[in-house]
Amino acid sequence: MFKKILAAVVTLAFALPMAAQAAPIVIKFSHVVANETPKGQAANYFKKLAEERTKGKVKVEVYPNSQLFKDKEEMEALQMGSVQMLAPSLAKFAPLGLKEFELFDLPFIFDSYEELHKVTQGPVGTKLLKKLETRGLIGLAYWDNGFKVMSANKPLRKPEDMRGQKMRIQSSKVLDSQMRSVGAIPQVLAFSEVYQALQTGVVDGTENPPSNLYTQKMHEVQKYVTMSNHGYLGYAVLVNKKFWMGLPADIRATLEGAMKDATNYANSVAKKDNDDAMAGVKKSGKSQIINLTAQEKAAWKKAMDKAHQQNIGRIGAATVKEVYAVTGYKP
Ligand code: LMR
Repeated sequence: MFKKILAAVVTLAFALPMAAQAAPIVIKFSHVVANETPKGQAANYFKKLAEERTKGKVKVEVYPNSQLFKDKEEMEALQMGSVQMLAPSLAKFAPLGLKEFELFDLPFIFDSYEELHKVTQGPVGTKLLKKLETRGLIGLAYWDNGFKVMSANKPLRKPEDMRGQKMRIQSSKVLDSQMRSVGAIPQVLAFSEVYQALQTGVVDGTENPPSNLYTQKMHEVQKYVTMSNHGYLGYAVLVNKKFWMGLPADIRATLEGAMKDATNYANSVAKKDNDDAMAGVKKSGKSQIINLTAQEKAAWKKAMDKAHQQNIGRIGAATVKEVYAVTGYKP
């Protein structure tokens, strides 16, 4: 009897501390932008909530600024399982064979965050996230960034001013068409390479929401920034499906709750972050800001409608029409 009790005590003495020290589940969250952007802040907020609410059973390691992977590589890394979570821009989903995501790149398709949310939070948004499962991924949420400005070393006021300008874009057929529709020469580059490409003149200009432009200091190597708001750039948060479904159910539920709150946070700071970034660009005095009149903006929209015509078939006419019906887009 005594021996049995002793054996049990010894077993417990070893087992308890080991259980207490069970290694946390690690979620590597890789992204390409700065911590101060809407995505960067939301990733860090998700980390905080996830770690607090699972009482340390989950550890979220956030790697900003392309520290781990550049644009294209990060999607492959997620599918391979070497990272568990990403929030790539919606322009980066077409290479998975999911061309419908390029609808978000269509110029002037959304006039406001309200219109965008009608799509991301409506049936089209849900349908698109569901498609990711066929690629071994789960789409947990849409995170906002904002509306893009156009920058260059010459003033871009009319669509014709874009003629011959080498413009960096993300790898998207729609963005390629958009730049060509105004006579620019699109050049695909990874986000981490844009600053240097602008600085050394490899490209003349680029497009991005102000939060990305400002945190990468692109405005320091661009003489003009046009408030064109010609297109939207935002994200979907992705997890590796095998990893996510393999989590204990209670942990997964807690993480889903943390993601819901991080999403509300992301979408509540995005507009202000972009407004603040523009104020920062202005204050720096490094580049001149060009505001467009309604008439000038209409000319950009008219010229860029070609990108819609050329890509409706590719994206899927039914889906694009569903979005037009929601946002009221008219050429
Ligand atoms: C870009 O490549 O311009 C963006 O996708 C970067 C980002 O993630 O916001």
